[in-house]
This record gives sequence, C-alpha cells and structure tokens, in this order.
Amino acid sequence: MKIGVLHGPNLQLLGRREPEVYGTDTLDDVDRALGELADELGVELETLQSNHEGALLDFVDEASTRVAGFLVNPGALTHTSVALRDALAGVDRPFVELHLSNTQAREDFRRHSWLAELAVGVVYGFGVDSYLLGLRGLVGHLTRDRTEG
Ligand code: DQA
Repeated sequence: MKIGVLHGPNLQLLGRREPEVYGTDTLDDVDRALGELADELGVELETLQSNHEGALLDFVDEASTRVAGFLVNPGALTHTSVALRDALAGVDRPFVELHLSNTQAREDFRRHSWLAELAVGVVYGFGVDSYLLGLRGLVGHLTRDRTEG
C-alpha cells in the first residue's frame, strides 16, 4: 500500500523557520522519521513539498491513481485553499490533515481549515510526532477499511 505525503508552502524552511513554534527538526528529519515508520507499518510513501498551490493540486490528481490515501500538512493553504479541498474531495482518497503547531491556540485566522471537515482525522500540536500519529491513524483507517469492507 502506498501513501501520498504533501508538505505545503514554507515547510522546506523547517529547522530555521520560527523554531519556537515549529521546533528545530528539518523537513529531511521529518521525512526520515516518516520513512522509518512507513517501513515499520509496511507501507510505501510518495512525497512532495511545494510552495506552489498548483503543483500540490497536480500531485493530488496524479498520485491518486497510485496511493490509497494522503497525509497532508497544507501549511497556510489550510486556511485559504478551497482548491486544495476540492482536489482532495475530487479524487476520493481518504486523507489525514496534520499540523506541527496547535493551530487552535494561535491567531484566529489559523482556527479555520478548509480541509478538516473532509479529513478522516486531524492531528495538531505535536511537532514531528503529528506526522507520525497522522500516518498511524491513516494506515489504521485504510487497513480497517480493507479488512472490514
Ligand atoms: C502549519 C500551521 C499553519 O497555520 C502554517 O501556515 C504553516 C504550518 C503547522 O504545521 O503547524 O505553514 O501547517
């Protein structure tokens, strides 16, 4: 089983971006930790980081033929992108939304997500562990779907 991983805008800056909010782990550290967990869970990952909304939309469309679901940190697109919401709704693949920071405890504009109501689940506030919890949750959801369906 393959999972698509989307890292949205500015996540390439992890490690040096507002470390008091996002921690000091880099995106490579995140991808390495995800890769180790994926091995443990017996799934493959296909990953994209982009600062360009259109590239993320194209990835959702193209990867949807290969992946069983998506793990998504949409970055700021969480709060702005009806297009990303529509892309994920359009491909009929379950997804988990995750955030390193607790977006509910920050500025008001971060409280609203265009994606959350379509997600299988949302994880926020645990730093890199948000990714790992999200991947476990998504794989659990997909595995249950397959064995109980
Ligand atoms: C973020 C939270 C968003 O509000 C912000 O725009 C990001 C990162 C997080 O992982 O905490 O870019 O998605």
